[in-house]
Amino acid sequence: MGFIFVTPEYNHGVPGGFKNAVDSIGPEWAGKAVGCVAYGADGGVRAVEQWRVIMANLHAHVVRAQVSLSLFTEFGEDGFRPQERRAEELKSILGQVVELAGKLRG
Ligand SMILES: Cc1cc2nc3c(=O)[nH]c(=O)nc-3n(C[C@H](O)[C@H](O)[C@H](O)COP(=O)(O)O)c2cc1C
Repeated sequence: MGFIFVTPEYNHGVPGGFKNAVDSIGPEWAGKAVGCVAYGADGGVRAVEQWRVIMANLHAHVVRAQVSLSLFTEFGEDGFRPQERRAEELKSILGQVVELAGKLRG
């Protein structure tokens, strides 16, 4: 089974409420594939690095591909304006999550 985490970053870390939700079903994450789409002032890259460590402890696996959206350049008063390359990045995440979920299921 695969999951996509859409995560902001708060004070260089994962959001507390999201972490609490993940923790609350701890053992159920074992053997699952996860991809991360992050956003924040710095693209949420540190939150994704933390999710990699957190999910490894729960025996889940975060794929290498990720999307890091900048609050400053991709969100504005005129709405959500992602960089062109984001579509390909998202495809990579989905492809890697589907492939890994298949392997883990086997
Ligand atoms: C208290 C606070 C701390 C934040 N710290 C970070 C940070 O360390 N890195 C970052 O990239 N963005 C940071 N941000 C920006 C948030 O990621 C941004 O506001 C985001 O939109 C929050 O997502 P949400 O409204 O969906 O919870 C911070 C925002 C707040 C209010």
